[in-house]
Amino acid sequence: DKKHFVTLVGSLRKGSFNAAIAHTLPELAPEGVTVSHLASPGDFPHYNADLQEEGFPAPVLAMAEAIAQADGVIIVTPEYNYSVPGVLKNALDWLSRVSPNPFAAKPVLIQSASPGNIGGARAQYHLRQILVFFDARVMNKPEAMIGQVTDKVKDGVLTDDVTRTFLSKQLQAFVEFSR
Ligand code: FNR
Repeated sequence: DKKHFVTLVGSLRKGSFNAAIAHTLPELAPEGVTVSHLASPGDFPHYNADLQEEGFPAPVLAMAEAIAQADGVIIVTPEYNYSVPGVLKNALDWLSRVSPNPFAAKPVLIQSASPGNIGGARAQYHLRQILVFFDARVMNKPEAMIGQVTDKVKDGVLTDDVTRTFLSKQLQAFVEFSR
């Protein structure tokens, strides 16, 4: 069966390493699997319940719908101060208020990359905790924490062969997981 996954990137930076990895995933995915990219969560206003009462912002509803339609979500994010970037948390806070919650029972894969050695591991465990409330189905293993990413991305593409092979295997596992 054909699977369709969407990526959610936790960095707004034009030269983002995490965005580069997300944009490389379509070519690493198994045959028959498509990967497309959700719009930037940078367009969401800061969460405010008063705004929600006036009606959900259009970009929030559009992202919720795209997630609902997908067979799985791949979150690719940097680590900021040992946790998830505020822009990603803000997006998740908005999406958690949408009913029905698009993440409920949704297969989720987490990837993170950093110029440092730990590859964003600490943010991943915070993200897993956040997704408990969503009742998302987050794949446990294999985990993808990509350290020293400055040596692995060139011109917006993941070029490191070892990492490319590893992420291909992880995507294959995610296809199985999402069945
Ligand atoms: C960082 N960075 C960082 N890296 C890390 O491994 N652990 C951390 O806790 C942090 N904290 C942190 C906080 C803030 C505010 C910034 C701006 C940066 C470094 C970070 O990994 C690096 O800037 C990446 O390049 C960011 O990812 P993108 O934008 O390249 O995808």
